Amino acid sequence: MRIRTHTNPLSCIKHFEKLDAVSVFSKFNGKIDFEVGFGQSSFIINHALENNDQLVVGIDVRKKTVDLMQERVNQNNIKNIYLTHGNGSVCLAEMFENESLDNIFIFHPDPWRKARHHKRRLINQDFLAIVQTKLKKDGKVYVSTDVDFLWLEIVQTFDANAKFTRFEDSEFWTNYYQTRWNEISKEKNRQTFFATFCLKNKF
Ligand SMILES: C[S@@+](CC[C@H](N)C(=O)[O-])C[C@H]1O[C@@H](n2cnc3c(N)ncnc32)[C@H](O)[C@@H]1O
Repeated sequence: MRIRTHTNPLSCIKHFEKLDAVSVFSKFNGKIDFEVGFGQSSFIINHALENNDQLVVGIDVRKKTVDLMQERVNQNNIKNIYLTHGNGSVCLAEMFENESLDNIFIFHPDPWRKARHHKRRLINQDFLAIVQTKLKKDGKVYVSTDVDFLWLEIVQTFDANAKFTRFEDSEFWTNYYQTRWNEISKEKNRQTFFATFCLKNKF
């Protein structure tokens, strides 16, 4: 099935009901992770299988991508994944209670290279303001990209925000992190940039 390469997240005007985690996943243990832009990567499936008593929520702005991933979830009879379609930023703001998320994963967000498309990039100060309210006190944000100018912008955005600091998690990046886009980057010998961020003074 052909999937459009890029879909403008700002043209997606869908709104979201508050998530009722227990009705979505009856064995819910109180932990929720959220992946924005899972694409065709298996990360969300593997992560849910590894953590089968917590809820893993995923969103992608491309509807066909969500439908394909939902088929895989159903085929594997995975009960602790909840997928939805739309803009990850709006979803984060509307769907989750404050201080409810353990981890947010953002792997290889679309770079939107042209200056006139700059607003479509996910990680900016407005987004971090929402992230800050939705993360639990010890929650973390995992971010990767293979686009150097985008990485610079992402790091500058986090660094300019007094609420966030870096969190060392080499175990995750060395032994756990694997996405479809990261595989493509490796095949093409592109460098992947990555980091984990957490809230300051929350430990
Ligand atoms: C380059 S792909 C990376 C897919 C996957 N994370 C990986 O590493 O293989 C980026 C994905 O993020 C989705 N995306 C981009 N901006 C988004 C947004 N604001 N909200 C939800 N999904 C978004 C795109 O539709 C696409 O599927």
